[in-house]
Amino acid sequence: MQVFTTTKSLTTYRQSQAVITGFVPTMGALHSGHLALIAESKAQNEQTICSIFVNPTQFNEARDFDRYPRQLDADSRMLEDAGCDVLFAPGVEEIYPQRDGVAYEFGTLTSILEGRHRPGHFSGVASVVRRLLEITQPDNAYFGLKDYQQYLVVKALVKRYEIPTTIIGFPTVREESGLAKSSRNVLLSPTAIDKATALHRALTHVKDNYEFENLAILEKQAKALVADFGFSVDYFRIVGGDDLTELKTPQQSAVALVAARIEGVRLIDNMKLN
Ligand code: PAJ
Repeated sequence: MQVFTTTKSLTTYRQSQAVITGFVPTMGALHSGHLALIAESKAQNEQTICSIFVNPTQFNEARDFDRYPRQLDADSRMLEDAGCDVLFAPGVEEIYPQRDGVAYEFGTLTSILEGRHRPGHFSGVASVVRRLLEITQPDNAYFGLKDYQQYLVVKALVKRYEIPTTIIGFPTVREESGLAKSSRNVLLSPTAIDKATALHRALTHVKDNYEFENLAILEKQAKALVADFGFSVDYFRIVGGDDLTELKTPQQSAVALVAARIEGVRLIDNMKLN
């Protein structure tokens, strides 16, 4: 695996190539969810690039940024074993020599749910993804559906700026217990890891009992279930899968999304309902 830490070296490398390239952006602390994205990219492209960059502009809480897990050596070995071709691990000054100054907004998509609870978060995600796509010039880029709203924001970003990369969403990888794999799970005590299965249980309950006429009751039940396990719930919502706004007809695709905190760690998850 080739490792690049500067924008200039990776740009030069990419300019010398004409191979179909898949890209998997990450913030490191890799787990099998990330590796599934790498495997998907490897299956669909001649070359796979992974980036590891803990992006300061998308953290709306300093404490969350400070304690975000960092383990570049272990990550690098995992990527090597997974057959990743290129690792891009830049410092902050490489990605942001100067701020692009753009506040990225995509209508309600960036103002509701995660956008409402994490002000500025999606603007930071959009600016880093735009910059990373510009540097890596991929044909295809892979994003986890675990961060469903992020996936929709990235699709809106490439559309607005006519970025010639296809955005591919990949299903959520879970523990056997149903808990979605997340880099933040290592911050949880064993007790909280057990309790965190409540998110998946609540989502499954909603899916099993999904009826268009019953949304308010289902949301209330699911919220109570998550709260009973000791979470403080930011939101539990059932909305349209295309734009995350209120469902208007039973025929529409529906998704349930949850964000909740336990032991000071904020977890998110979601499930397609129909
Ligand atoms: P990070 O949280 O490291 O996630 C990197 C990618 O892995 C994202 O596309 C995320 O949705 C996906 N992912 C995480 N957990 C997953 C799981 N359990 N199953 C499937 N995919 C999973 O998301 C980010 O980093 C950042 O916001 C980033 C896009 C890199 C921009 O900084």
